[in-house]
Amino acid sequence: MTTADALPPGLVTALRQARYIVALTGAGVSAESGIPTFRDAQTGLWARYNPEDLATPEAFRRNPRLVWEWYAWRRQLVSAAAPNPGHLALARLERLAPRFTLITQNVDGLHQRAGSTSVIELHGNLLRVRCSAEGAVYTTWPDVADPPPPCPACGAPLRPDVVWFGELLPPEALERAWRAATTCDLFLSIGTSGLVEPAASLPRVAYASGATVAVINLDVTDAVEERLFYLHARSGELLPALVSAAFPDADAVTR
Ligand code: APR
Repeated sequence: MTTADALPPGLVTALRQARYIVALTGAGVSAESGIPTFRDAQTGLWARYNPEDLATPEAFRRNPRLVWEWYAWRRQLVSAAAPNPGHLALARLERLAPRFTLITQNVDGLHQRAGSTSVIELHGNLLRVRCSAEGAVYTTWPDVADPPPPCPACGAPLRPDVVWFGELLPPEALERAWRAATTCDLFLSIGTSGLVEPAASLPRVAYASGATVAVINLDVTDAVEERLFYLHARSGELLPALVSAAFPDADAVTR
């Protein structure tokens, strides 16, 4: 376990000297806000469902109300949750680094609530919905007795504005993420199992492009290799320590 008082010096230096830092986050970053990760067992009334069986176009076609209500439950979880110190540290890093891009697979909007502004949402955002027929995006919608509500423009069912299994990622977001990974000099992969493409390839692409890469996760073993750091740690504990160690003189309040 990498603890705050045993940070790899090479990574602290790389963070301080980086010209362009890119961070890729997964569900592990939101876990300390109480949001279950994708591969945690589902809890409560959703315990009997597997997310992979709900987050698909087929599931929505088969039972739109069930899928809509699963996202409504997740939206409630997210609304009741707060950004944790890991989210806040990434928002601070964006203010301190010469250049910073955050790429997230998370759909909970917690990075933005923590103050991150340069955010690429690879898998969408469950706080938005979109027309299942024409794609128009909405941030508010009517409560109806028999959800999903109809699109106000065409009447087709509204659906969460997220990427489901088997669907393509938003091309513009993917292109921006790829460009960030190939041009940064430090790439942080945080709280992601790295099981789902194309996000899973981004750390490899960054490394192949000459960047230093750090993987912060609970299912890695601590190791330091050439331009590669593996840190077994909780993002909410490690990220604040890493940012403070790299920028010791920054005023935590104003920057
Ligand atoms: N700090 C750091 N890492 C953590 C923490 C934590 N506090 N808690 C859990 N983790 C790690 C786990 O060890 C795991 O490797 O976060 C990772 C979460 O993995 P997943 O649940 O697979 O989530 P993610 O990688 O984001 O999934 C990617 O798959 O299901 C699809 O679209 C969905 O965006 C999701 C994508």
